[in-house]
Amino acid sequence: MSVRDVIRMGDPRLLEPARPVERFGTPELRELIADMSDTMRAQNGAGLAAPQIAVGLQVVIFGGFRSPRYPESDEIPYTVLINPELEALSDEVEEGWEGCLSVPGMRGLVPRYRHLRYRGFDDEGRPVERTVADFHARVVQHECDHLAGILYPMRIRDLRNFGFADVLFPGQPLQDD
Ligand code: NI
Repeated sequence: MSVRDVIRMGDPRLLEPARPVERFGTPELRELIADMSDTMRAQNGAGLAAPQIAVGLQVVIFGGFRSPRYPESDEIPYTVLINPELEALSDEVEEGWEGCLSVPGMRGLVPRYRHLRYRGFDDEGRPVERTVADFHARVVQHECDHLAGILYPMRIRDLRNFGFADVLFPGQPLQDD
């Protein structure tokens, strides 16, 4: 297990659609997920998608620990989600501030569906299905966007709501993102 480098916005690999995982329960897949978990925790991320460590597979992880950047993150169980499918359960959309380990130091106001069902598989190929709302729904939408080559700044409606975290939120402890 090891902490991997997170690639940053501007790298074309972040813009490519990821491929589905075809074989579950393999040593390679377990190692990938262990490295993603180490990397997410080392960087205090709320989640991480495989393309962020330059692996073009449909694998995301999120939740499971208290991130100082996202105090709500401890409400989300640690989840490995592979080959995900998302379904909005209502038209209701909410704006919320997001950051991304691939866009360090920045925050933007991003619209996301409030109510979401997601389906996929864990690392052993067991089905995962949850109905979630609010911050949990936001994190899943953000991470799964990475699998389609979408970074959150592409979804900001008004770019006046995009800036440096320490300028937007002065007085809050500066995280290294
Ligand atoms: Ni991100």
